[in-house]
Amino acid sequence: MSDALVDCTSGQYIQNVREKLGLGRTEFANLLGLNSTGERTVRGWETGEHKPTVRKINDIKALESFLKEQQTNAPFYCEKGEFTFIDLFAGIGGIRLPFQNEGGKCVFTSEWDKFAQKTYLANYGDMPHGDITKIPSKQIPNHDVLLGGFPCQAFSQAGLKQGFNDTRGTLFFDIQRILVEKRPKAFLLENVKQLRGHDKGRTLNTILSILTGCNANIDVEDLSINDEAKMALSEKLNYHVEYKVLRAADFGIPQNRERIYIVGFDKDYFGSDVKFSDFFEWPEPTCQPTRVGDILEDINTYDEDKFTISDKLWSGHQKRKEEHKQKGNGFGYSLFDEESEYTNTISARYYKDGSEILIDQTSLNKNPRKLTPRECARLQGFPEEFIVDAVSQGQIYKQFGNSVCMTVVKELAKNLVKAIRKLETRY
Ligand SMILES: C[S@@+](CC[C@H](N)C(=O)[O-])C[C@H]1O[C@@H](n2cnc3c(N)ncnc32)[C@H](O)[C@@H]1O
Repeated sequence: MSDALVDCTSGQYIQNVREKLGLGRTEFANLLGLNSTGERTVRGWETGEHKPTVRKINDIKALESFLKEQQTNAPFYCEKGEFTFIDLFAGIGGIRLPFQNEGGKCVFTSEWDKFAQKTYLANYGDMPHGDITKIPSKQIPNHDVLLGGFPCQAFSQAGLKQGFNDTRGTLFFDIQRILVEKRPKAFLLENVKQLRGHDKGRTLNTILSILTGCNANIDVEDLSINDEAKMALSEKLNYHVEYKVLRAADFGIPQNRERIYIVGFDKDYFGSDVKFSDFFEWPEPTCQPTRVGDILEDINTYDEDKFTISDKLWSGHQKRKEEHKQKGNGFGYSLFDEESEYTNTISARYYKDGSEILIDQTSLNKNPRKLTPRECARLQGFPEEFIVDAVSQGQIYKQFGNSVCMTVVKELAKNLVKAIRKLETRY
């Protein structure tokens, strides 16, 4: 039907455009620049409760070509692949890119943070779906590999350590229900190292027992998880599962970031008698020397001195450090320079005051400075082409702090994909 004959203000038209683009209402609203109640506005348009303004109708009409343009401009857009994967809790795609580079095609992404979605869209040309807890697994395409760096606050040392009693801890059960429904050949999960010792090891044991199918019945009534996840717990998975803590600094990146990685291979698909250690091996640390200077930019190329911290912040940091010292602990800011071997772990709170990684500028007679967004990208092993300015500086710091060290994931992706290929061609 020609555009002239279509009522572009009708709810049906708007819904059709949205569904054709594969967008949830929240993501549709985000792309149209609506505010936090945007999902409700879009729902109202679709049900005919109210109509969009002429400007918004024009934006809706232009959305398809906008998304096409994003794909054209995205440095890491990928059309085809030899295997498929999904990217859950995708953040800015730190786990995605290495798998894409190994020949994979991402067929589904979920990330609900609208700023992370923006960086993701700019780099990969794909707009992520939103809240995974609201997406039935039947709506997720079949895939060979599931990837998920699930939220870690509930398990991290700095957090409240609530684990499965914290809704952020129960997101593992969304991975579990998708595995039950889709049975990908393999998966890679990532989390903070503290997951290993959380609740005296019981949390990790529960996760591993669910993945291997050795789980005794779990009391689902106590868990705040959706009905599909509750139902899925009555089905047993059958994955061969291994885990290991790997450190970025052991793979040539000057950051002391340790993370737990959990890999799994479906025994129903590959066979229960397979000796998986003949096929999959953990990446060996390269142990090449690291130096913070290798990720630093020439700060003089910036017009403004916007990374040097203010006198107020610097004296606050010094005061707090002194107070900690009096109490006999080593907490407080940390200073690094070019010759430092590696930095502390960059965290999602880096944007607040930068205390975990400050670069010494005594030689310039200045207060210390924060890392630049490009330096954060390098500290996480991201390629130079990665777009770091699709969002504000505060948001990009948060995104890199939440992300993974891509260099480590690259080694893991290589070995995991190699294992699948070897397993599939073993006869
Ligand atoms: C630890 S970060 C993972 C980052 C990712 N691995 C990367 O490379 O950037 C967890 C991510 O999960 C997202 N998230 C948390 N709850 C979610 C939900 N219910 N649905 C979708 N995404 C969610 C957060 O916004 C965050 O970006």
